[in-house]
Amino acid sequence: MIPNLIVQVWGFDIRLNTASVFDKNQTAMTTDQPSEALPIVHELRNPKGHGFDCMVFDGLYLFVPPPFMLKGETAEKRLQSIQEIELNDDDVIICAYPKCGTHWLWEVVEMLRSGVIEYRKEVKETQEFEIIYKEGTDALPAPRTLNTHLPLRMLPKQVVEKKVKCIKIIRNPKDVCVSFFNQYRDTVAPAGFEGDLEEFTELFLYGKICFGAYSDYLLTWKAELARSPGLPVLEMFYEEMKMDPVKSVKNVARFLGLTSTDQFCEDVAFACSFKKMKQLDKEAKEEYAVAKFWKEGSVGFYRKGEVGDWKNWYTVSESEKFDRIWNDQMKDSGIKFTYA
Ligand code: A3P
Repeated sequence: MIPNLIVQVWGFDIRLNTASVFDKNQTAMTTDQPSEALPIVHELRNPKGHGFDCMVFDGLYLFVPPPFMLKGETAEKRLQSIQEIELNDDDVIICAYPKCGTHWLWEVVEMLRSGVIEYRKEVKETQEFEIIYKEGTDALPAPRTLNTHLPLRMLPKQVVEKKVKCIKIIRNPKDVCVSFFNQYRDTVAPAGFEGDLEEFTELFLYGKICFGAYSDYLLTWKAELARSPGLPVLEMFYEEMKMDPVKSVKNVARFLGLTSTDQFCEDVAFACSFKKMKQLDKEAKEEYAVAKFWKEGSVGFYRKGEVGDWKNWYTVSESEKFDRIWNDQMKDSGIKFTYA
């Protein structure tokens, strides 16, 4: 008989259904949660056993929410609730695949909108749809700077109906992959990743990972936006923001219809520089309930903050292999990335 497999997700015990540990449709259970409230867990592992346990929602691999996020409901119901969120005209939504600079942009937008050079005490995860769902979003005071890694079809229906402002940030895929690898390598088991970068890159490129393949994310957003003409979306590149942060901050201010002075935009860009935000993260941010997310002593979300760090991680042949797969996936996208 196969024994119960107890794993920890973000520090919470999750018991995988014994009968299905070796079958892709296994059900996750915990001792304090009715089994029907927990999602089906899919093991996305390579032959070495390295990979991730994800749930599937609307065709997308997502992280398995720890019980405290579910509040007795199913993960599917919590995720579906996002679509019913009522939005305000002054809501702004930051949309990005993980590791594209979401934390950075969120702080910039919050500071610009507040009109003062003051950091938010909260982390951006306290305003992230797939973490707080409808209930958490409804409880936030206006004006809200919401954020998400989800595709447009999973966001509140009112995003399109009310033409709510969205800001997208994208980044070259090699830096995204290296950044994501470092995040997972520094994350506590089993959400963490035990394999090497080569193995991770394969999972990343072929979408065997939470939030799916980056290429799918980009292509899906492109297709979804084409079906939603008139949606006000500002598209930004991480690399441009790095190259000229003041210009990027001004662009954001203009898009939001703010009358921020040039001096204020410069001050925001400076206050939100990598060095400042890394320091702030240690000193000023209130801890969110993901405290057990990072391994002891890891650098956390503010790792290096550079363009082209991938060159320190990939050999020439690994980089060429990456290009072959990526370029094939993205050949019709029309998106040009900066790699250095
Ligand atoms: P690296 O791992 O390459 O350093 P996200 O916020 O979407 O999770 O993205 C995290 C990435 O953005 C990390 O990349 C992080 O260091 C970088 N980052 C965070 N704040 C930044 C800032 N102020 N300036 C530049 N990069 C920043």
